[in-house]
Amino acid sequence: MGEQEFIRAEHINKTFSKQGKKIKAVDDVSLELYRGECFGLIGESGSGKSTLANVIAGLEKADSGAVYMDGPGGKINLLDAGNRKIQKEYCQKRQMIFQNPRLSFNPAMTIGKGLEEGVRYYTKIPAARRKELALENLELVGLKREYYDRHSSELSGGECQRAAIARALMIEPEFLICDEITSALDVSVQAQIMSLFMEIQKKKKMTCLFISHDLALVSSICNRIAVMYNGKIVESGDTKQIIYHSSSNYTQKLLQSVFFADRETMTRYERKKMESSI
Ligand SMILES: Nc1ncnc2c1ncn2[C@@H]1O[C@H](COP(=O)(O)OP(=O)(O)O)[C@@H](O)[C@H]1O
Ligand SMILES: [Mg+2]
Repeated sequence: MGEQEFIRAEHINKTFSKQGKKIKAVDDVSLELYRGECFGLIGESGSGKSTLANVIAGLEKADSGAVYMDGPGGKINLLDAGNRKIQKEYCQKRQMIFQNPRLSFNPAMTIGKGLEEGVRYYTKIPAARRKELALENLELVGLKREYYDRHSSELSGGECQRAAIARALMIEPEFLICDEITSALDVSVQAQIMSLFMEIQKKKKMTCLFISHDLALVSSICNRIAVMYNGKIVESGDTKQIIYHSSSNYTQKLLQSVFFADRETMTRYERKKMESSI
């Protein structure tokens, strides 16, 4: 109720050629994200999640399809390759966070300068204010001011992912795409990064496409999800509806492997915890 559509991907197709063979990585995928929601995209490795994310982010060119964002002037097709103005504007509205946080930083650059890069490129904010912004965002993700002068190689994986989140926040994006952002981290660190991420997503009211192969993780934070398999969305909608009343054989298998493999032997406490998380 009252949900306002913000991002809509329509009939996205993307085929790769590999050693003469064609791989249909994304096969006629459509999805819509409401403003301010954290929408989950799940599916096993190789199902096409990252390719779809990259197309939606404008980092990868689709064979066909469109991605619309709702703006003051109505809907615009973000994939309108001929329109540089739209592309530049979109780059200021969306950010992506990846599995490997080190790739977000140039190893030769300090974290502070890395944070400021986007602001320097897209805005006319003066240097002193840029630095203040970087320090504010470091604080927001729980990193000390000293990290401004460090290099990514001096940070732990978790710290580096915090810095990557701070970097993504610098231009105040309206749309955030997170591709397996905790998959490379230790389990204990994963939980910290997730709670940090959720807090920030809510506080900033960002629309988010949250991608993971981890169904338990996605279903614990997203009210709506889509399940991807073999380049297609096999199911999408309300998380609880999908978990409890899935109509897709694939989703059911995925669910069994994650939640219910051990259901018989689960203690009542574990079951309650599991059910309250979805
Ligand atoms: N640049 C590429 N060149 C060739 N094949 C690719 C490329 N990127 C992805 N693929 C293939 O596309 C399919 C989907 O990959 P991907 O989008 O990375 O899936 P996921 O993120 O769900 O693991 C896989 O079969 C993968 O091997
Ligand atoms: Mg991937």
